[in-house]
Amino acid sequence: MSTPTGEAGRAGTKSAIASGEAPAPWRAPSPLEGRFETERLVLRFWEPTDAAGMLAAINVERESFLPWLPWVRTDNRTVEECGAAIERMRGKRERVEPAADDFTIGMFEKSTGLPLGGTGLHRIQHEWHEAEIGYWVRADWRGRGVCTEAVAGLISWAFGERGRGGWGLRRIHIRCSGRNLASQRVPRKLGLREEARLVGERWTEGAGWDDTLVWGVLREEWDVAGQRLRGK
Ligand SMILES: CC(C)(COP(=O)(O)OP(=O)(O)OC[C@H]1O[C@@H](n2cnc3c(N)ncnc32)[C@H](O)[C@@H]1OP(=O)(O)O)[C@@H](O)C(=O)NCCC(=O)NCCS
Repeated sequence: MSTPTGEAGRAGTKSAIASGEAPAPWRAPSPLEGRFETERLVLRFWEPTDAAGMLAAINVERESFLPWLPWVRTDNRTVEECGAAIERMRGKRERVEPAADDFTIGMFEKSTGLPLGGTGLHRIQHEWHEAEIGYWVRADWRGRGVCTEAVAGLISWAFGERGRGGWGLRRIHIRCSGRNLASQRVPRKLGLREEARLVGERWTEGAGWDDTLVWGVLREEWDVAGQRLRGK
C-alpha cells in the first residue's frame, strides 16, 4: 500500500474506533431515507417511472461509457431493460437475508428532474461499516462538476446520522481504473486520500491488464454539513 498522498492522508487522522469491542454489523436504516439534495442535484432511488429517462440519459452517448462500464452493451438498452434494472435495484436494497449491501441511486437535476446519471453505495462491508461509491454521468452533462457534487453529497448522506436521514456509515472508498482520467479527477478534486494502486488488478478492454486506484475517507475526516473534506 502506498503512502497516503491525498489531503485526508496529510491530515494524519486516526480511526474513531481505536480499540475495544467491535461494533455490531451495520444494517441499512429502517425506514430508508431515499432522497438527498445538493446545490444543483437531487439524489434519490430510481423509480419505475424513471425507466425512459434513464434510457435517454445513457443513450446520449452509449459508447462513451466504454470501456469503463461494459454493462451498457448488454443491459439498459430498452425502456423494458431499464425498468427491469430499476426493479432489481429495489430488490437488492430491500433484501433482508442476507442483509442488503447494494443501494443504487440516481442523480437528477433539481430544477427540472432530468436524470443526469447514477451513483450508489455498493459492496457494503457490514462488519466494517464501509461502502464503495461508483458513478456515471450522461455525456452531455460531463465536465460541469455534476459527478463531484453528487459524490460529495452522497458521502455526506452516507456519513450522516442514522435516524436523522443519514446512513451511519464510517468509511467510504472509491475504486477506478488507472487509465480512467476523468473518473480519477472526482476523488482528487474532493481531496480524498489516495490509498492504493493495485497493480495489474483488472482487465480493461482495449488496454489489457490495468491498475486499480483506490481512494478512501473516514467519517471524522468529512464535514457532513459542508459536503466536503474537513478543512478544505
Ligand atoms: C467519470 C464521470 C462520471 C465524471 O463525470 P463529470 O460530471 O464529468 O465529472 P466532473 O465534472 O465532476 O469532473 C470531471 C473532471 O475530469 C476531467 N476530465 C474529463 N475528461 C478527462 C480526460 N480525458 N483526461 C483528464 N481529465 C478529464 C474534467 O476536466 C473534470 O476535471 P476539472 O473539473 O478539473 O476540469 C464521467 O466522465 C462518466 O460518466 N464517464 C463514463 C463512466 C465512468 O467512467 N464512470 C466511472 C467508473 S470508475
